[in-house]
Amino acid sequence: MARVLLGVCGGIAAYKAAALTSALVQRGDRVDVIMSESATHFVGSLTFAALSGNPVLTSLWDAPESIPHIALVRAADVFAIVPATANALAKLARGFADDLLSNAALAARVPLVVAPAMNAAMYEHPATRENLRLLVERGVTIVEPDTGFLAERETGVGRLAERDAILAAIDAALARTRELTGQRVLITAGPTREAIDPVRFLSNASTGTMGIELAREALARGAAVTLVLGPTLVAAPAEAHVVRVTSAQEMCDAALAGFSGADVAIATAAVADWRPAESYAQKVKKSDGPATLALERTPDILATLGARKAGTFLVGFAAETENHERNAREKLQRKHLDAIAVNDVSGGAGFGTGDDEIVLLWGDAGRKALGTGSKRVLARALWDALDVLRARN
Ligand code: CTP
Repeated sequence: MARVLLGVCGGIAAYKAAALTSALVQRGDRVDVIMSESATHFVGSLTFAALSGNPVLTSLWDAPESIPHIALVRAADVFAIVPATANALAKLARGFADDLLSNAALAARVPLVVAPAMNAAMYEHPATRENLRLLVERGVTIVEPDTGFLAERETGVGRLAERDAILAAIDAALARTRELTGQRVLITAGPTREAIDPVRFLSNASTGTMGIELAREALARGAAVTLVLGPTLVAAPAEAHVVRVTSAQEMCDAALAGFSGADVAIATAAVADWRPAESYAQKVKKSDGPATLALERTPDILATLGARKAGTFLVGFAAETENHERNAREKLQRKHLDAIAVNDVSGGAGFGTGDDEIVLLWGDAGRKALGTGSKRVLARALWDALDVLRARN
């Protein structure tokens, strides 16, 4: 049994939301409905009240003393907006909160499933495309509309997706939120800094974003997350247990401390492989600075974890510029990993913002391309793939 908050917007497909309500109720879910004012022009609120067995809210002013939008989103497991009009998508994407439904969406911390339905030209308009892109970027599930006969008596894209597709998307969103409940996840992220003197160091261009997004997604799926994070200005999720470190040695110590009892450990950190053999206590003057810098190896954190592994599902990353998959498979074996995510870092790709392309490898020949996208989108795809892989093990 799940608690579904259903937002209904003003489109001709609003009547299909009534059938969806009935299907949810019949399978044992509790449904609370919020209708936009314009939705009530298409279907009466009484229909949804009767089908759901619960009062339907349409206005911020229905029962202001109970702050209904906050109470409803807190009680819900998932928030589905069916159908979502072009206007609703714009409001969701830009954070407008001018009615009960948009206030509820802004207050929601539960997964959002949005099923758009509109005229084909509106759906294909660059503004709508951009709004959808922003929502996907933020982790919203979009149930793509079908192509077919539209209310305008023409054929095009914009028909509300079939009920089963919407139910499946709601189920997938619910399953995700529960997938890592009770599990402990350890993630290393960011660069490390290896000190030359108090003001100079060796480091790299990593921002830690991939690890931070993986942490965020794991939290959304119910995990307790320890994030061992090197120096970065990118904000870490507040709900994670964040251990700030600077050098590879500190990261190694913190990762080892968090490793025992972890169900999954993911090493995304771009650890400096070398550090100055000697670190000067005072700022080195250029007049007497070393002409050459002697280096020594830092610990390989992931290999250290791999050598001590007992039951933890261990995932590495391989940043490669050539022979990507061959090099990554070699790391998979050498570091005793259960899976490795390969990304191409030629030309600086893979660092900071911008799209990445990730392929997940495991075993002797296991391979799944996770596609190209932002780190936010790829973090979700990676956890989805790891979920399937762990279930098989
Ligand atoms: N890694 C680590 N500690 C290191 C180096 C790497 O934990 N000292 C981890 C990274 O977090 C990543 C994986 O090992 O998950 C592979 O990192 P990568 O830099 O691609 O490979 P290296 O092992 O450094 O090998 P090479 O430099 O030969 O490519």
